[in-house]
Amino acid sequence: MKFFVDTAEVDAIRELNDLGMVDGVTTNPSLIMKSGRDIKEVTKEICEMVDGPVSAETVALDADGMIAEGRELAKIADNIAIKVPLTWDGLKACKVLSSEGRMVNVTLCFSANQALLAAKAGATFISPFIGRIDDLSLDGMDLIGDIRTIYDNYGFETQILAASIRSLNHMKDAALIGADVATAPPAVIKSMANHVLTDKGLDAFMSDWAKTGQKIL
Ligand code: E4P
Repeated sequence: MKFFVDTAEVDAIRELNDLGMVDGVTTNPSLIMKSGRDIKEVTKEICEMVDGPVSAETVALDADGMIAEGRELAKIADNIAIKVPLTWDGLKACKVLSSEGRMVNVTLCFSANQALLAAKAGATFISPFIGRIDDLSLDGMDLIGDIRTIYDNYGFETQILAASIRSLNHMKDAALIGADVATAPPAVIKSMANHVLTDKGLDAFMSDWAKTGQKIL
């Protein structure tokens, strides 16, 4: 499973990228707002740092506006994936932009039928929002599983990008169920390294090592 980082915070991306943990980046208007940066400036900086796709989201609500904004965002770098919302106009924009050979990430997906339409419109990525579905006391992972089955049934090449990830279980379950990509906040990716038994075991080793009075260096 590829890891995308879900943030527009350049320092956080750099830390993970230096470790080889970053296959791409996703941003959205809320994340750009949180960064306090200009969208084109920060997106360019991220694109120069990261080899993989960097999603930049359009904000027009009509297809023509999304297409124009998408073409403008695509000028930032070759690794831009244009993000459009899963609306009828978003699907029209997806069809046009993907036909031009551009990567398109169709976002705000909350149903398998929406995902089916996005694949038929040529989406490179479909972004089902797991966490926001869980917020409604439903199971967002069921949606990832349904989309996996449908795409595999018909050989769609659209990549399933599990989004709105909030927890370690989301990461593990997305990998188990066969999501192609998971996009997660830096803190979630870093916390994958944590385990209480690792901490406990390390404490015991350090305590016993101190008793030996030895040094390695
Ligand atoms: C990524 O592409 C999405 O915009 C993001 O994962 C949404 O996450 P949220 O539901 O935590 O805002």
